[in-house]
Amino acid sequence: AAEPLVDPLGRVIRYVRISVTDRCDLRCTYCMAERQTFLPREDLLSIEDLDRLASVFVGLGARRLRLTGGEPLVRKGFMDLVARLSRHLASGALDELTLTTNGMRLAEHAEALAGHGVRRVNVSLDTLEPETYRRLTRGGDVSRALEGIAAAKAAGLAVKINAVALARDNAADLPGLIEWAHGEGHEISLIEAMPMGEIGADREAQFLSLGDVRRGLEARWTLTPMVKRTGGPARYVRVEETGGTLGFITPMTHNFCGDCNRVRMTCTGRLYLCLGQDDHADLAGALAEGGEAAVEAAIRAAVARKPGAHDFRIGPDAVPAVARPMSLTGG
Ligand code: GTP
Ligand code: 5AD
Ligand code: SF4
Repeated sequence: AAEPLVDPLGRVIRYVRISVTDRCDLRCTYCMAERQTFLPREDLLSIEDLDRLASVFVGLGARRLRLTGGEPLVRKGFMDLVARLSRHLASGALDELTLTTNGMRLAEHAEALAGHGVRRVNVSLDTLEPETYRRLTRGGDVSRALEGIAAAKAAGLAVKINAVALARDNAADLPGLIEWAHGEGHEISLIEAMPMGEIGADREAQFLSLGDVRRGLEARWTLTPMVKRTGGPARYVRVEETGGTLGFITPMTHNFCGDCNRVRMTCTGRLYLCLGQDDHADLAGALAEGGEAAVEAAIRAAVARKPGAHDFRIGPDAVPAVARPMSLTGG
């Protein structure tokens, strides 16, 4: 087998996040501008090239692939990509093939995903309140997300809920959301909002430190730290009263970059070494010019300059560290 991907800080890259489209059927306020412009379709990688590029990473020792967007389930041919990539599960080269979705189209696809060997999905759900959900997603219907989640559960998929914590929009809803998730048997992670793309006027006012959220929850519940790490950025606790698992993802207040095991690829075939940095490599170009061997060389050269940490900052002078929207790179 090929030499694993190790960066100069000794971090081994075993996890690759791939955005399959920048489009989405929602417009979450912390993710997209009100009038987000999307890439012309001809700029997107084909399903075949997504498969070829992802498979190079598998050959280089990636054990987990996470498909994201935008919303992965709006990408034409998405299930075909999942079907193709599932060969790496069957061969044992890959431990996990999964996706992060808003759930809008999960009800139609849950069975097929499970059939291709997907075992769990992460679903973004910031509130259970229909009006708040509609405002946050700029028009989404929370009952559709809930139907999608229920279908995933019925298909035997484990579901992890992701909620971005926002001071004004959903801070008051978080305990209820956690209680609901745990009652349904789902894990849930809370996430600090990161300044990517256009910073809306109220981004600063909406920022909520998860340290504050955690103190509030501790007034209500007993939170027992768990040793469990999934290789992702979350630090987990067990909520004794619900029996469920709760994660805190704190890029802004406690960065986890020292344990970073991941890189990400955009739907245009750019490899970003870090969510919060602009340095990237053009894998689509490498594939076109020199095939898989050139891609492998480009990946190795890029990983050799993976930055130590992201450049996200909070505070009154904060500017977006990266101008590209989250939807291009995949949260
Ligand atoms: P699992 O641990 O496999 O469940 O996945 P995950 O938590 O890594 O993935 P998920 O798609 O659920 O991401 C949750 C949140 O963590 C998203 O908002 C991501 O933007 C954020 N996140 C994931 N990886 C990184 C990272 O490397 N850096 C930063 N700053 N944020 C990340
Ligand atoms: N900060 C933090 N998380 C974000 N997400 C999207 N935009 C942001 C942001 N600016 C989350 C989504 C989803 C995950 C993939 O990324 O809610 O759960
Ligand atoms: Fe769509 Fe996810 Fe962005 Fe919301 S956070 S607009 S669901 S890509």
